[in-house]
Amino acid sequence: MIMAEDKVKIDQWVAKFPDPKGAVIMALRIMQDRHRWLSDDSINAVANYLNIAPVDVYEVVSFYSMYRRSPGGKHFVKICTSLSCCLAGAYDVIKYIEDKEGVSLNKLDPEAHITLQETECLGACQGAPVALVDDEKYHLDLTPDKINTLLQDLDLVEGVQ
Ligand code: FES
Repeated sequence: MIMAEDKVKIDQWVAKFPDPKGAVIMALRIMQDRHRWLSDDSINAVANYLNIAPVDVYEVVSFYSMYRRSPGGKHFVKICTSLSCCLAGAYDVIKYIEDKEGVSLNKLDPEAHITLQETECLGACQGAPVALVDDEKYHLDLTPDKINTLLQDLDLVEGVQ
């Protein structure tokens, strides 16, 4: 089911394209922002609302790594492991966060404070190793100090400390 206010947002994107398929990416983003992940029900609702075949929506979901197919923790921390970041120590960053936070890479635990994920190039190779938090904030040139600050900032967002 798509909430009325989300339908308004989706309609705005539909109006920008000659074909409703053009709005699929943003319709999925709107649904994910609402529910934190994309269930089959959400994907089918988008297909139904845009009056397109479900396969046309599923193929978009499966192509882009920013879509979540399972509920994860409160925050998503994505670490780029493509070449530049890999050479600059991306797997050391992953190990550091795993040890510090007690999480495992790519484990989608809805009770977790953070979900740690591996991702392809984030387009910020000059700042390798790179993290993307909650699909919005880039963290470049990661060091243990910078990772600690990143994690402390996430605690502050929730008022945990
Ligand atoms: S290789 Fe990591 S941002 Fe490009």
